[in-house]
Amino acid sequence: MASAYMPKNILITGAAGFIASHVCNRLIRNYPDYKITVLDKLDYCSNLKNLNPTRSSGNFKFIKGDICNADIVNYILLTESIDTIMHFAAQTHVDNSFGNSFEFTQNNIYGTHVLLEACKVSGGQVKRFIHVSTDEVYGETEEDAVVGNHEACQLLPTNPYSATKAGAEMLVMAYGRSYGLPVITTRGNNVYGPNQFPEKLIPKFFLLAMKGKILPIHGDGSNVRSYLYCEDVAEAFEVILHRGEVGHVYNIGTKKERRVIDVARDICNLFSLDPDTHIRFVENRPFNDQRYYLDDQKLKSLGWVEKTTWEEGLRKTMDWYVKNPDWWGDVSGALLPHPRMLTMPGVEKNNGQDVRKVVVNKITQNGNDGSKLKEEFPKLLHIKESLIKYVPEPIN
Ligand SMILES: NC(=O)c1ccc[n+]([C@@H]2O[C@H](COP(=O)([O-])OP(=O)(O)OC[C@H]3O[C@@H](n4cnc5c(N)ncnc54)[C@H](O)[C@@H]3O)[C@@H](O)[C@H]2O)c1
Repeated sequence: MASAYMPKNILITGAAGFIASHVCNRLIRNYPDYKITVLDKLDYCSNLKNLNPTRSSGNFKFIKGDICNADIVNYILLTESIDTIMHFAAQTHVDNSFGNSFEFTQNNIYGTHVLLEACKVSGGQVKRFIHVSTDEVYGETEEDAVVGNHEACQLLPTNPYSATKAGAEMLVMAYGRSYGLPVITTRGNNVYGPNQFPEKLIPKFFLLAMKGKILPIHGDGSNVRSYLYCEDVAEAFEVILHRGEVGHVYNIGTKKERRVIDVARDICNLFSLDPDTHIRFVENRPFNDQRYYLDDQKLKSLGWVEKTTWEEGLRKTMDWYVKNPDWWGDVSGALLPHPRMLTMPGVEKNNGQDVRKVVVNKITQNGNDGSKLKEEFPKLLHIKESLIKYVPEPIN
C-alpha cells in the first residue's frame, strides 16, 4: 500500500451541517497538527453548535460564506494555504429538490465548479480534493439484485437532487482529467445520528415519536434503505483522506438494509408507542427509489469497517435527540409529512414575522385549502408557488 497522505491545511465545506461536523470534530480531536478551516453559508439545516467540540481549538477557523462565491473561495485557498479540500456542502434533501430544484443546481453543481476552478487557478497547491457524493447517483437498485453497485457502475440518477450530485461528479472527473487535479470521490449510503436536521427520516421520526405524534411514511413503507451511523462514516472519511487513491471513487456502504416501515416500527418501540396507531402512510414522492444497494468492498480493502450496530446507533441517536429537542429551535415546518424547507426558510420575514411560521399557521387553520392561502398571501406565495402544490395534510 502506498504511504499515507498527510494533509496540513484542510478546507471542509458544509461542516455546520450533519456529516461534515462529525468529520471535522473527529479530525480536530485526532490530529492536533492539522489546521482546519470550515466554509459554510449557514443554511436552514445547519447549526454552529454542531461544531461545539471544535470551536475553541486553536487549529480551527470558521468562515461564514458561500462556495458559489469565487472571491471567498480563492481568498481562503490563498490565505490559509489550503492543500486539501473535503467538499460536503450541498443542498441535500430529496424532497426539497422536487420543489425548488434550481437551488440544487446552483449549490451542488455550480458551487462544486467554483471550488474546482479555484483549485485549478491555485496552480498545484491543492494535493487532495475529496468530493462527497451519494449512493443516489446510481439510481434505483432492482428489488431482487444480489450484487450491489460497484464504483464503475453507470450513473442513472432518478431525482433532481441525485441528478445535481451526478452533475457535480462529472465536473470533478473532468478537472481530474483535464488539469490533473488530485480528486477522490465518495458515494455514501444514508447516514444517521446526532446533529442531523429533522427533515430527514430518522431524526424526524424521533422528534415526532418523542411528542407521541404520528410518523408519516411516504408511500407504503416498502422502500429499502441502508443506514450507516455518523461516527462510522466520519471514520470512513478519515481513512479515505489518508489512504484513498487519487482518481478513485469509494462507496461508503453497508450490506444491512432496512425497510422504511421497519425503521418507523423500531422507533415506535423505543418510545413504547403502538406502531399500528402511530404510523400513517401518506402520498408518496413524485419518484421514490426502491433501494440503493452498494458494493462496499473497495473501502474495506483500505481497512475501514462498520462498527456500530443498528440497535446501538439508534439508541445513541435517540439519547441525543431526547437531550437536545430544541437544537435548531422551531422545526415544526420540517416535521410535516412533505416539508419544503428551501421554500420556507426561517431567515425570510414577512411584515417582521417568520414566513415559515406564517405559512405553517395558515396551513393549520385552513386545512388543506391551498387556494385560501393564495388569496391571503399573494405576494408571499408568488415566490413560494411550489408550496401550494404540496400543502401538507395536518397531522396531530
Ligand atoms: N445525509 C446523508 O445521508 C448523505 C448520504 C450520502 C451522501 N451525502 C452527502 O454528504 C454531504 C453532506 O450531507 P449532510 O446530510 O451532512 O448535509 P446537511 O444538509 O446536513 O448540511 C449541508 C451543509 O452545507 C452547507 N451549504 C449548503 N450549500 C452551501 C453553499 N452554497 N455554500 C456553503 N455552505 C453550503 C449548509 O449550510 C449545511 O451546513 C452532501 O454532499 C450530501 O450530498 C449525505
